[in-house]
Amino acid sequence: MDSKIRKGIWNCTIALLMALVFATAAPTAGGQTPTVKTKPGNKGQAEQKRNQAEVKDWWKNAVIYEIYPRSFQDTNGDGLGDLNGITERLDYLKELGVDAIWLTPVYPSPQVDFGYDISDYKNIDPQYGTLADFDRLVAEAGKRHIRVLMDMVMNHTSDQHEWFLESRSSRDNPYRDWYVWHDGKVDRATGKTVPPNNWQSLFGHSAWEWDAKTRQYYYHKFYIQQPDVNWHNPQVHAAFEDVAHFWLKRGVGGFRFDAITTLYEDPSLADEGVVRDKDGKVIINAYGDPQLDGSKTDNQPGLHPVMQEMRAATDKFNLETFPGTRVLIGETYLPNIEELTKMYGPPGKPEFHLPMDTQVAFINKLDVATFRSKLIDAETHLSAHIPLLLFDNHDNPRLDMRYGDGVHDEDIQRVLATILFASRGAALFYYGDEIGMKTTPPERKQDVKDPIGITGWPREKGRDGERTPMQWDASAQAGFTTGTPWLPVPPSAQTINVAAQKKDPYSLLAWYQSLIRLKKTVPAFERGANIMLDVENTNVLSWLRQAPGAAQVVVCVNFTAEPQTVNLATGGAGIGPRHVKTLLKTPGAADPQSLRAIKLGPFGVYMGEVQ
Ligand code: NOJ
Repeated sequence: MDSKIRKGIWNCTIALLMALVFATAAPTAGGQTPTVKTKPGNKGQAEQKRNQAEVKDWWKNAVIYEIYPRSFQDTNGDGLGDLNGITERLDYLKELGVDAIWLTPVYPSPQVDFGYDISDYKNIDPQYGTLADFDRLVAEAGKRHIRVLMDMVMNHTSDQHEWFLESRSSRDNPYRDWYVWHDGKVDRATGKTVPPNNWQSLFGHSAWEWDAKTRQYYYHKFYIQQPDVNWHNPQVHAAFEDVAHFWLKRGVGGFRFDAITTLYEDPSLADEGVVRDKDGKVIINAYGDPQLDGSKTDNQPGLHPVMQEMRAATDKFNLETFPGTRVLIGETYLPNIEELTKMYGPPGKPEFHLPMDTQVAFINKLDVATFRSKLIDAETHLSAHIPLLLFDNHDNPRLDMRYGDGVHDEDIQRVLATILFASRGAALFYYGDEIGMKTTPPERKQDVKDPIGITGWPREKGRDGERTPMQWDASAQAGFTTGTPWLPVPPSAQTINVAAQKKDPYSLLAWYQSLIRLKKTVPAFERGANIMLDVENTNVLSWLRQAPGAAQVVVCVNFTAEPQTVNLATGGAGIGPRHVKTLLKTPGAADPQSLRAIKLGPFGVYMGEVQ
């Protein structure tokens, strides 16, 4: 792109942005005492009140950054990222403007599922550091007003966890009932013992593993090395509350609940239905198994009381010990908005603060009508709860592969980032998205690290492609490690890296920074409703942010590779022929005279304050 053109457009944008940045009382990080600097008196009390409100509501307009610690920053040359590496990069995160970092699991683990197989919930895996390193990370993050969120994996443990080692040691061990054990059934044709039903692991093949010693099967929704915990047992509830308290006491700002929809299974043990295509043919998944409908093992009602308990325990902790809301985030892959709404809990019995809206996240194609309808759902169907929008995580190909066209990938990522940060609610993004890191899957089966990529090769290549080392600079290992990285650094690191983008005020990184700053400083973005405009348009998604007492803001994003002009002044949802003052725009968009004609370049974005 012609950098001169960019420069002209950006100069006025940056000036406006700077003008918009007004001083706000510093938010207080999880576990840190709020800093009230003024002396007592009316002014002091008012400030204290505002400070307390910020501490309480920080999550409602939060920007959350997901870190895959193994791939973020290595400090000891072993090729694996570590906690000290995250601490080292806190200034970068601060500059980016994030309020919280969510760490995928850093607990001791045999690392079969790269940390999601936990063998001790109250420690740090030596490959990541020590508890002291963790405490230092929380303290340093706190100084920068960044909260640290932990992954809470309650569906399963590692098969090396002492609870499971006990459980499998004999049928009458006190821990036997901490896991899901069942007798097999006898197959009439062969006379052999077979699993109790047809349930499958999400990672391929039967979800039942035979234990020769105690002659029963145990259930595992994920890897064989990840036995499911039995949530019918009250001791399990107490054990996980205790785990939560352990980390809350260390000052964490909340938890992301892993695989929460798979917590319970239907006690009837009935077979799940087989999914067929439109011609009635059974669909075969990447592992060669028939696709099942998940009706007996996913989203079972028992998970709601569990989350109500966890929320009550966490809320109670907030009140009694440290100030500041500890936020509960859910990994909530659900079929529709109605099911997502339930995750917030019924009136008076709150569950998640922020269950992930995977409805929007995984539309996986740039279709204006679908985006509009899913965003309207998030605005109107969540009973006034706060949406948590996201587009990416460590389990899915990155944005280039799901939304890119191979030609305008960076522009498309600007479009997605705009939707993410300029919509109401909290926003979650994945490390490397801010520089446009590309999905880089292994080319040969022998290079695959993620076990599902071995079981499912070549249809399922695993998740290595979206977990490659963070690209800090153009050096041999991208500034990630001085050793040999656990996954190869993608060749794209030569051009796509933080150091290069920091020098370029028109980079994707700068775009992210600008959007985040606007989200935090423009009142309509901070608290305004989302109202869709120009709702018949199939090329451009436009919306208004509107809050009482605040200037309205319009946002337009072009979903096509063609230039577009939109008229937000007239028509059904038009807001009148008013003037508009540019807040942010991409190259190709001129400063419009009025809302009658907003011009956008290919995949262009325009954002302006209505005068
Ligand atoms: C969801 C996590 O995001 C994924 O990485 C993991 O493999 C499964 N849960 C099992 O814990």
